[in-house]
Amino acid sequence: MKKTFILATLLAFTGLTASAQTYLNPNAPIEERIKDALSRMTTHEKIKMLHAQSKFTSAGVPRLGIRQLNMDDGPHGVREELEWNTWNPARWTNDSIVAFPSLTCLASTWNRDLSDAYGNAVSEEFAFRGKDIMLGPGVNIQRTPLNGRAFEYMGEDPYLAGEMAVPYIKAAQANGVACCLKHFVLNDQEIDRFGVNVNVSERAMREIYLRPFQKAVDQAHVYTIMGSYNMWKNVHCCHNDELLNGILKKEWNWDGALISDWGGTTNTMEAALGGLDIEMGTYTDGKTKESNFGYDDYYLGNPFEKLIKEGKIPMSVLDEKVSRVLRVIFRTAMNPNKVIGNQCSETHYDVCRQIGEEGIVLLKNDKNILPLNPSKYKKYSQILVVGENATRSLTQGGGSSELKTLRDISPLEELQRQYEQMIMYAQGYYSGRAMYDHVDRLNPQKQDSLKAEALEMAKGADLIIFIGGLNKNTRQDCENGDREGYDLPYGQNELISELAKIQKNIVVVTFGGNPYNMPWLKEVAGVVHCWYLGSEAGKALVNVLNGTVSPSGKLPVTFAQKYEDYPYVQYGQEAYPGVNKQVYYKEDIFVGYRHFTTNNVKPLFPFGFGLSYTTFAYGKPTATMEGNNIVVKTTITNTGKVAGKEVAQVYSSAPQSDLPRPSKELKGFAKTKLLEPGESETLRITIPKNELNYYDETTHGWALTTGTYTFHVGANVDDIKGKVEVEVK
Ligand code: BGC
Repeated sequence: MKKTFILATLLAFTGLTASAQTYLNPNAPIEERIKDALSRMTTHEKIKMLHAQSKFTSAGVPRLGIRQLNMDDGPHGVREELEWNTWNPARWTNDSIVAFPSLTCLASTWNRDLSDAYGNAVSEEFAFRGKDIMLGPGVNIQRTPLNGRAFEYMGEDPYLAGEMAVPYIKAAQANGVACCLKHFVLNDQEIDRFGVNVNVSERAMREIYLRPFQKAVDQAHVYTIMGSYNMWKNVHCCHNDELLNGILKKEWNWDGALISDWGGTTNTMEAALGGLDIEMGTYTDGKTKESNFGYDDYYLGNPFEKLIKEGKIPMSVLDEKVSRVLRVIFRTAMNPNKVIGNQCSETHYDVCRQIGEEGIVLLKNDKNILPLNPSKYKKYSQILVVGENATRSLTQGGGSSELKTLRDISPLEELQRQYEQMIMYAQGYYSGRAMYDHVDRLNPQKQDSLKAEALEMAKGADLIIFIGGLNKNTRQDCENGDREGYDLPYGQNELISELAKIQKNIVVVTFGGNPYNMPWLKEVAGVVHCWYLGSEAGKALVNVLNGTVSPSGKLPVTFAQKYEDYPYVQYGQEAYPGVNKQVYYKEDIFVGYRHFTTNNVKPLFPFGFGLSYTTFAYGKPTATMEGNNIVVKTTITNTGKVAGKEVAQVYSSAPQSDLPRPSKELKGFAKTKLLEPGESETLRITIPKNELNYYDETTHGWALTTGTYTFHVGANVDDIKGKVEVEVK
């Protein structure tokens, strides 16, 4: 009542009336506002909304009071401000933010509530910085452990990635900040990302690669999606008619705006007719110098306007695009309920730390070397920390997701704070600066002397904590390039082995967005994998190491014993990274664990794996059909001595059919609350029947094999605690 009155007064004061200017009336239905706004705009104003006007904004209509769209990377925090026309930092002093853990870490929590908390917190930072669209999250499938951008995605399984993306998107958009889901689709490698054409079967495309996007559209109604650089059916995905108009907009009924990846547009006609709505980041011919860069010369700028004016493209095409952009504007920039947000609040740091704590995966813990509680490590113990990642800022580098943070707590800082004079430190190796598209040439002598120093110091230590792994240097976990091999870089394998010879009480802690080779696994007592943990890295890690938190993270990817075990490797270069910019996904739907389990290849650590400081017993599972859902129930009891959380995973095996089916597919999961020793919780896991569908290439549609399904309830894909059969009709 009050709001309407104020609004009416305001409109009267500005000379506008609600009935006359529907588009400005926040209480009018959005579709009416769009229609009204469209009717007031000139062709040129419409055109201007469909392409960039700076590196990270697209225009509104100033004359009509229609706001521009402010965008920013994404997805782990708000990127620092760049200059209007260049990739140079704008050198603002108020744009330092919280770096949240990498999305792979979020996926590792298997905790939907934390995904909701992440989306809420990170979007509050975007809102406070005046942003309307955050470029993320990403749900490309981790097909290869070499993918330079895997850390920005949510693992190898479409169900897990989709389930974890939905709460993040819903929470962010409830704050009036649009997510821009990346990178639609098949952007599964960085080598040749601008031009590689992906050849994939219709079934694998639907069941594996499109699935998480479809879920985000259906369940989270994501407001914007970013087209990927690569091609599908030899057409760029930023303006691929079959993909964008056919599947996304028509079949999935999606009403949002499709934004190109930066520089992903290559052709006006295709962009106009192929489903692109906002063109970003294009360099125009002969105008690569920023000083004379003309945004009007974008493919969807003057050249598009000319085609419209000449009648070669109907006005309806233009209006449809503008409607989609206006819809985003009304949902975000001109949404009266958009939050003000905040930046660097303690709540955000808490969320960051909690996600880190729950995403860290304990992979090995011989003789309970962890946790490092005070009863084991007395004042006179000497703990040697070795490794560059103990001090390195891992929010730097990696490409567009790089962040400028206000405060970061490194592992070494937090270890020193908690264990004081017990801690010694040796860097052990070095990796050079985190630079985009360049690698530092490393000095072998410096490398040798750092190693010698660490080995010498190891002689005086009672315990070694090695903190290394990957980093965000080019050709590590970094955009526009893939890793060069499955091994840890910078001589870490040799260093770990030699340290382990001197001191067998050694715990290896790794950061990184990808699985990696562990030739030294048998030689070390403990292994902890951290992904990237953001601003609170040190706190989250040390809380796990010292037992304040019992680890509960589970792998969203398979760690193979050796690189050759990944499913596509057997098919050679054609299957990765491609030959003459054609890549063939010959492993088809058998990506990740679908291959390892079906073809009996034993992994080093299976999908879903993660240890705890406590133990859990699984009760006998039950399953019932409730309408169109299968409801699986299982009771988890903490049978150990400390409090902990467990993730129960449900995998289905389909009845026999002519079609090749993976032996197990993830169809549901749930995480317990923090269970005290002796405490139990019954988890109820609902599986909509259509999750069991496969894609039928003969009818080009989803189909269900009817019959008896087995649902395996387990602690990971290879550790099944109980099975239950259900007749599905
Ligand atoms: C990346 C996108 C990113 C954009 C803007 C591109 O190179 O692929 O993920 O959002 O740059 O920085």
